[in-house]
Amino acid sequence: MGYFLNTTDDYHRHALETLGWELTVCNCLQPQNSPCRPLLKSDGSFGKHLLEFLGHHVPLHKLRQVLEVGGGLGYLMKDFLSLTSNLQATMLDISPVLLQKQRETLTGLPAVFREADFLSLSTPELSCFDLAIFNENLGDFPTLVFQNTTSQNDSSAAGALQKAAYYEQEFSLKFSHGETINIGALEALEKLCGAGIAYIYLSEHSCEASLHSPYYPHRNFEASLTPEKISLWGHNEYTIRFSHLETVARTFRYRVLRGCYIDILPVGLNPKAKTALRAQTAANDEQEIIQQFFHDLYKYEYLLLINEKKAQAPQR
Ligand SMILES: C[S@@+](CC[C@H](N)C(=O)[O-])C[C@H]1O[C@@H](n2cnc3c(N)ncnc32)[C@H](O)[C@@H]1O
Repeated sequence: MGYFLNTTDDYHRHALETLGWELTVCNCLQPQNSPCRPLLKSDGSFGKHLLEFLGHHVPLHKLRQVLEVGGGLGYLMKDFLSLTSNLQATMLDISPVLLQKQRETLTGLPAVFREADFLSLSTPELSCFDLAIFNENLGDFPTLVFQNTTSQNDSSAAGALQKAAYYEQEFSLKFSHGETINIGALEALEKLCGAGIAYIYLSEHSCEASLHSPYYPHRNFEASLTPEKISLWGHNEYTIRFSHLETVARTFRYRVLRGCYIDILPVGLNPKAKTALRAQTAANDEQEIIQQFFHDLYKYEYLLLINEKKAQAPQR
Protein backbone atom coordinates (compact mmCIF):
# COMPACT_ATOMS: atom_id res chain seq x y z
CA MET A 1 0.00 0.00 0.00
CA GLY A 2 1.40 3.37 -0.85
CA TYR A 3 1.18 6.62 -2.77
CA PHE A 4 2.21 7.40 -6.33
CA LEU A 5 2.16 10.77 -8.06
CA ASN A 6 -0.28 11.04 -10.98
CA THR A 7 1.04 13.56 -13.50
CA THR A 8 -0.09 14.75 -16.93
CA ASP A 9 2.84 16.98 -17.94
CA ASP A 10 4.38 14.38 -20.25
CA TYR A 11 1.04 13.88 -22.00
CA HIS A 12 0.49 17.61 -22.44
CA ARG A 13 4.04 18.25 -23.67
CA HIS A 14 4.43 15.33 -26.06
CA ALA A 15 1.23 13.40 -26.79
CA LEU A 16 -1.61 15.90 -26.91
CA GLU A 17 -2.60 16.69 -30.48
CA THR A 18 -6.12 17.96 -29.95
CA LEU A 19 -8.38 19.04 -27.09
CA GLY A 20 -11.26 17.30 -28.85
CA TRP A 21 -11.06 14.45 -26.36
CA GLU A 22 -11.94 16.83 -23.56
CA LEU A 23 -15.05 18.83 -24.34
CA THR A 24 -14.74 21.63 -21.81
CA VAL A 25 -17.77 23.75 -20.91
CA CYS A 26 -15.99 26.71 -22.51
CA ASN A 27 -15.55 24.89 -25.82
CA CYS A 28 -19.03 23.39 -25.64
CA LEU A 29 -20.57 26.89 -25.61
CA GLN A 30 -18.31 28.30 -28.31
CA PRO A 31 -20.27 27.49 -31.51
CA GLN A 32 -23.14 29.92 -32.03
CA ASN A 33 -25.39 26.96 -32.80
CA SER A 34 -24.26 24.98 -29.72
CA PRO A 35 -27.21 22.89 -28.46
CA CYS A 36 -26.28 24.09 -24.95
CA ARG A 37 -26.71 27.81 -25.57
CA PRO A 38 -30.55 27.64 -25.64
CA LEU A 39 -30.41 26.34 -22.03
CA LEU A 40 -29.01 29.66 -20.86
CA LYS A 41 -30.99 32.70 -19.80
CA SER A 42 -28.97 34.83 -22.19
CA ASP A 43 -27.19 33.70 -25.32
CA GLY A 44 -23.41 33.89 -25.55
CA SER A 45 -20.09 32.16 -25.20
CA PHE A 46 -18.47 31.09 -21.94
CA GLY A 47 -16.00 33.99 -21.97
CA LYS A 48 -18.79 36.53 -22.35
CA HIS A 49 -20.71 35.04 -19.41
CA LEU A 50 -17.61 34.79 -17.23
CA LEU A 51 -16.67 38.39 -17.96
CA GLU A 52 -20.20 39.51 -16.98
CA PHE A 53 -20.02 37.47 -13.79
CA LEU A 54 -16.59 38.78 -12.82
CA GLY A 55 -17.76 42.32 -13.55
CA HIS A 56 -20.13 42.08 -10.54
CA HIS A 57 -17.17 41.56 -8.18
CA VAL A 58 -14.05 42.89 -9.90
CA PRO A 59 -13.38 46.44 -11.23
CA LEU A 60 -12.38 45.02 -14.61
CA HIS A 61 -11.89 48.50 -16.14
CA LYS A 62 -9.07 49.15 -13.64
CA LEU A 63 -7.10 45.99 -14.43
CA ARG A 64 -4.30 45.71 -16.93
CA GLN A 65 -2.22 42.51 -16.75
CA VAL A 66 -4.19 39.25 -16.93
CA LEU A 67 -2.55 35.82 -16.79
CA GLU A 68 -4.41 32.84 -18.21
CA VAL A 69 -2.90 29.45 -17.45
CA GLY A 70 -3.98 26.50 -19.60
CA GLY A 71 -6.11 28.54 -21.98
CA GLY A 72 -6.85 25.55 -24.26
CA LEU A 73 -8.03 26.86 -27.61
CA GLY A 74 -7.96 30.49 -26.43
CA TYR A 75 -11.68 31.23 -26.72
CA LEU A 76 -12.15 32.56 -23.19
CA MET A 77 -9.37 35.11 -23.62
CA LYS A 78 -10.57 36.07 -27.09
CA ASP A 79 -13.83 37.19 -25.48
CA PHE A 80 -12.04 39.00 -22.65
CA LEU A 81 -9.75 40.93 -25.00
CA SER A 82 -12.46 41.68 -27.57
CA LEU A 83 -15.00 42.89 -25.01
CA THR A 84 -12.59 45.10 -23.01
CA SER A 85 -10.04 47.70 -24.11
CA ASN A 86 -7.63 47.80 -21.16
CA LEU A 87 -6.49 44.19 -20.72
CA GLN A 88 -3.12 42.80 -21.78
CA ALA A 89 -2.93 38.98 -21.67
CA THR A 90 -0.14 36.55 -20.90
CA MET A 91 -1.10 33.05 -22.05
CA LEU A 92 0.93 30.37 -20.29
CA ASP A 93 0.53 26.74 -21.29
CA ILE A 94 2.53 23.54 -20.95
CA SER A 95 1.28 22.23 -24.30
CA PRO A 96 3.07 23.55 -27.41
CA VAL A 97 0.15 22.40 -29.56
CA LEU A 98 -2.47 24.29 -27.55
CA LEU A 99 -0.27 27.35 -27.21
CA GLN A 100 -0.07 27.49 -31.01
CA LYS A 101 -3.89 27.26 -31.18
CA GLN A 102 -4.07 30.18 -28.72
CA ARG A 103 -1.72 32.23 -30.93
CA GLU A 104 -4.05 31.62 -33.88
CA THR A 105 -7.25 32.40 -31.93
CA LEU A 106 -5.77 35.60 -30.45
CA THR A 107 -4.14 36.97 -33.60
CA GLY A 108 -4.29 40.77 -33.57
CA LEU A 109 -5.20 40.96 -29.88
CA PRO A 110 -2.86 42.21 -27.10
CA ALA A 111 -1.45 38.88 -25.89
CA VAL A 112 1.95 37.31 -25.32
CA PHE A 113 2.58 33.58 -25.11
CA ARG A 114 4.79 31.47 -22.89
CA GLU A 115 5.32 27.71 -22.98
CA ALA A 116 5.95 26.47 -19.44
CA ASP A 117 4.67 24.27 -16.66
CA PHE A 118 2.96 26.70 -14.30
CA LEU A 119 4.50 24.90 -11.33
CA SER A 120 7.99 25.81 -12.58
CA LEU A 121 7.28 29.54 -12.14
CA SER A 122 8.58 31.40 -9.13
CA THR A 123 6.29 33.52 -6.99
CA PRO A 124 8.04 36.84 -7.90
CA GLU A 125 7.37 36.14 -11.61
CA LEU A 126 3.66 36.31 -10.84
CA SER A 127 3.50 39.53 -8.87
CA CYS A 128 3.00 41.73 -11.97
CA PHE A 129 -0.46 40.28 -12.68
CA ASP A 130 -3.74 41.90 -11.61
CA LEU A 131 -5.93 38.92 -12.48
CA ALA A 132 -5.15 35.20 -12.89
CA ILE A 133 -7.48 32.77 -14.68
CA PHE A 134 -7.31 28.98 -14.35
CA ASN A 135 -10.32 27.53 -16.15
CA GLU A 136 -10.87 23.77 -16.03
CA ASN A 137 -7.24 22.77 -15.63
CA LEU A 138 -6.34 22.18 -11.97
CA GLY A 139 -7.43 18.54 -12.31
CA ASP A 140 -4.44 18.10 -14.65
CA PHE A 141 -1.98 19.18 -11.98
CA PRO A 142 -0.07 16.51 -10.00
CA THR A 143 -2.17 14.39 -7.65
CA LEU A 144 -1.07 12.05 -4.88
CA VAL A 145 -2.98 8.79 -5.29
CA PHE A 146 -3.01 5.88 -2.84
CA GLN A 147 -3.04 2.33 -4.16
CA ASN A 148 -3.42 -0.98 -2.41
CA THR A 149 -1.43 -2.94 -4.96
CA THR A 150 2.05 -1.71 -4.00
CA SER A 151 3.94 -2.40 -0.79
CA GLN A 152 5.32 1.11 -0.27
CA ASN A 153 5.21 4.68 -1.57
CA ASP A 154 6.48 5.06 -5.13
CA SER A 155 9.68 7.14 -5.42
CA SER A 156 7.70 9.67 -7.55
CA ALA A 157 5.63 10.51 -4.47
CA ALA A 158 8.41 11.36 -2.01
CA GLY A 159 8.70 15.12 -2.69
CA ALA A 160 4.93 15.53 -2.96
CA LEU A 161 4.36 13.74 0.36
CA GLN A 162 6.76 16.16 2.03
CA LYS A 163 4.77 19.03 0.53
CA ALA A 164 1.54 17.47 1.84
CA ALA A 165 3.05 17.37 5.35
CA TYR A 166 4.04 21.04 4.92
CA TYR A 167 0.45 21.97 3.92
CA GLU A 168 -0.89 20.16 6.96
CA GLN A 169 1.42 22.17 9.18
CA GLU A 170 1.27 25.59 7.50
CA PHE A 171 -2.39 25.67 6.46
CA SER A 172 -3.90 23.30 9.06
CA LEU A 173 -5.18 20.97 6.35
CA LYS A 174 -6.02 17.44 7.45
CA PHE A 175 -5.36 14.58 5.02
CA SER A 176 -6.73 11.25 6.17
CA HIS A 177 -4.74 8.05 5.62
CA GLY A 178 -4.92 7.03 1.95
CA GLU A 179 -6.73 10.19 0.86
CA THR A 180 -6.21 11.37 -2.72
CA ILE A 181 -4.50 14.77 -2.48
CA ASN A 182 -4.63 17.55 -5.12
CA ILE A 183 -1.04 18.45 -4.32
CA GLY A 184 -0.35 20.33 -7.57
CA ALA A 185 -3.50 22.44 -7.25
CA LEU A 186 -2.50 23.37 -3.69
CA GLU A 187 0.99 24.32 -4.82
CA ALA A 188 -0.37 26.40 -7.71
CA LEU A 189 -2.68 28.29 -5.39
CA GLU A 190 0.05 28.87 -2.84
CA LYS A 191 2.15 30.49 -5.60
CA LEU A 192 -0.72 32.71 -6.76
CA CYS A 193 -1.67 33.87 -3.27
CA GLY A 194 1.99 34.22 -2.26
CA ALA A 195 2.46 36.58 -5.20
CA GLY A 196 -0.42 38.68 -3.85
CA ILE A 197 -2.34 38.77 -7.17
CA ALA A 198 -5.35 40.99 -6.59
CA TYR A 199 -7.95 38.72 -8.25
CA ILE A 200 -7.73 34.97 -8.82
CA TYR A 201 -10.39 32.92 -10.60
CA LEU A 202 -10.21 29.10 -10.62
CA SER A 203 -12.70 26.51 -11.82
CA GLU A 204 -12.69 22.74 -12.15
CA HIS A 205 -14.67 19.53 -11.58
CA SER A 206 -15.30 19.35 -7.86
CA CYS A 207 -15.55 16.30 -5.60
CA GLU A 208 -17.56 18.41 -3.13
CA ALA A 209 -20.35 19.48 -5.50
CA SER A 210 -23.78 17.82 -5.41
CA LEU A 211 -27.17 18.21 -7.09
CA HIS A 212 -30.49 17.49 -5.40
CA SER A 213 -33.35 18.64 -7.56
CA PRO A 214 -36.78 16.99 -7.60
CA TYR A 215 -37.30 18.37 -11.11
CA TYR A 216 -34.45 16.37 -12.65
CA PRO A 217 -34.30 13.20 -10.54
CA HIS A 218 -32.16 11.32 -13.07
CA ARG A 219 -29.49 14.04 -13.02
CA ASN A 220 -28.98 14.24 -9.24
CA PHE A 221 -25.62 13.27 -7.78
CA GLU A 222 -23.88 13.24 -4.41
CA ALA A 223 -20.58 14.79 -3.40
CA SER A 224 -17.96 12.06 -3.11
CA LEU A 225 -15.83 14.33 -0.86
CA THR A 226 -12.62 12.71 -2.08
CA PRO A 227 -11.01 13.51 -5.46
CA GLU A 228 -12.33 11.17 -8.15
CA LYS A 229 -10.34 9.80 -11.06
CA ILE A 230 -11.40 10.88 -14.55
CA SER A 231 -9.86 8.63 -17.20
CA LEU A 232 -9.20 10.42 -20.45
CA TRP A 233 -7.29 9.62 -23.61
CA GLY A 234 -3.57 9.38 -22.72
CA HIS A 235 -3.89 10.61 -19.12
CA ASN A 236 -5.93 10.60 -15.93
CA GLU A 237 -7.03 13.65 -14.04
CA TYR A 238 -8.76 14.15 -10.67
CA THR A 239 -11.64 16.22 -9.39
CA ILE A 240 -10.73 18.93 -6.89
CA ARG A 241 -11.39 19.20 -3.18
CA PHE A 242 -12.22 22.90 -3.22
CA SER A 243 -12.46 23.27 0.56
CA HIS A 244 -8.70 22.69 0.79
CA LEU A 245 -8.04 25.44 -1.77
CA GLU A 246 -10.42 27.70 0.11
CA THR A 247 -8.46 27.12 3.33
CA VAL A 248 -5.18 28.04 1.65
CA ALA A 249 -6.68 31.24 0.21
CA ARG A 250 -8.18 32.26 3.55
CA THR A 251 -4.84 31.66 5.27
CA PHE A 252 -3.38 34.23 2.86
CA ARG A 253 -6.28 36.50 3.92
CA TYR A 254 -8.06 36.44 0.59
CA ARG A 255 -11.82 37.02 0.52
CA VAL A 256 -13.38 33.91 -0.98
CA LEU A 257 -16.40 33.63 -3.26
CA ARG A 258 -17.26 30.02 -4.02
CA GLY A 259 -20.03 28.51 -6.10
CA CYS A 260 -20.77 26.35 -9.10
CA TYR A 261 -21.06 27.12 -12.80
CA ILE A 262 -24.81 27.64 -12.55
CA ASP A 263 -23.99 31.05 -10.95
CA ILE A 264 -21.92 32.04 -13.99
CA LEU A 265 -24.21 30.42 -16.53
CA PRO A 266 -27.80 30.92 -15.27
CA VAL A 267 -30.30 28.71 -17.09
CA GLY A 268 -33.72 29.51 -18.48
CA LEU A 269 -34.71 26.07 -19.70
CA ASN A 270 -36.74 25.84 -22.90
CA PRO A 271 -39.22 22.95 -23.49
CA LYS A 272 -36.67 21.00 -25.54
CA ALA A 273 -34.16 21.17 -22.70
CA LYS A 274 -36.79 20.22 -20.11
CA THR A 275 -37.70 17.14 -22.15
CA ALA A 276 -34.04 16.16 -22.42
CA LEU A 277 -33.50 16.60 -18.69
CA ARG A 278 -36.62 14.62 -17.74
CA ALA A 279 -35.57 11.66 -19.91
CA GLN A 280 -33.94 8.84 -17.96
CA THR A 281 -31.86 7.88 -20.99
CA ALA A 282 -30.96 10.29 -23.78
CA ALA A 283 -32.93 9.60 -26.95
CA ASN A 284 -30.33 11.17 -29.25
CA ASP A 285 -26.94 12.93 -29.31
CA GLU A 286 -28.43 16.34 -28.66
CA GLN A 287 -30.25 15.15 -25.52
CA GLU A 288 -27.02 13.51 -24.30
CA ILE A 289 -25.08 16.77 -24.77
CA ILE A 290 -27.77 18.73 -22.92
CA GLN A 291 -27.80 16.22 -20.04
CA GLN A 292 -24.01 16.33 -19.74
CA PHE A 293 -23.98 20.13 -19.88
CA PHE A 294 -26.59 20.41 -17.12
CA HIS A 295 -24.62 17.97 -14.98
CA ASP A 296 -21.47 20.07 -15.51
CA LEU A 297 -23.26 23.27 -14.46
CA TYR A 298 -23.44 21.77 -10.96
CA LYS A 299 -20.32 19.56 -10.98
CA TYR A 300 -17.90 22.41 -11.74
CA GLU A 301 -17.08 24.74 -8.88
CA TYR A 302 -15.28 28.06 -9.04
CA LEU A 303 -13.37 30.17 -6.56
CA LEU A 304 -13.03 33.90 -6.98
CA LEU A 305 -10.36 35.10 -4.59
CA ILE A 306 -9.96 38.76 -3.75
CA ASN A 307 -6.89 40.24 -2.10
CA GLU A 308 -8.61 43.12 -0.30
CA LYS A 309 -5.40 45.09 0.23
CA LYS A 310 -4.52 45.06 -3.48
CA ALA A 311 -8.14 45.44 -4.53
CA GLN A 312 -8.32 48.75 -2.64
CA ALA A 313 -5.07 50.07 -4.10
CA PRO A 314 -5.54 53.18 -6.28
CA GLN A 315 -5.64 52.85 -10.06
CA ARG A 316 -2.16 52.57 -11.60
C1 LIG B 1 -8.81 20.74 -20.00
S1 LIG B 1 -7.83 21.96 -20.76
C2 LIG B 1 -8.78 23.43 -20.39
C3 LIG B 1 -8.67 24.43 -21.50
C4 LIG B 1 -9.45 25.73 -21.32
N1 LIG B 1 -9.07 26.44 -20.13
C5 LIG B 1 -10.94 25.50 -21.36
O1 LIG B 1 -11.60 25.71 -20.34
O2 LIG B 1 -11.42 25.10 -22.41
C6 LIG B 1 -6.41 22.10 -19.69
C7 LIG B 1 -5.40 23.13 -20.13
O3 LIG B 1 -4.40 23.27 -19.11
C8 LIG B 1 -3.10 23.13 -19.70
N2 LIG B 1 -2.19 22.63 -18.64
C9 LIG B 1 -2.27 21.46 -18.00
N3 LIG B 1 -1.31 21.35 -17.07
C10 LIG B 1 -0.61 22.51 -17.10
C11 LIG B 1 0.51 23.03 -16.37
N4 LIG B 1 1.10 22.30 -15.42
N5 LIG B 1 0.98 24.27 -16.66
C12 LIG B 1 0.38 25.01 -17.65
N6 LIG B 1 -0.68 24.55 -18.38
C13 LIG B 1 -1.17 23.34 -18.10
C14 LIG B 1 -3.34 22.22 -20.88
O4 LIG B 1 -2.33 22.23 -21.84
C15 LIG B 1 -4.66 22.80 -21.40
O5 LIG B 1 -4.47 23.98 -22.15
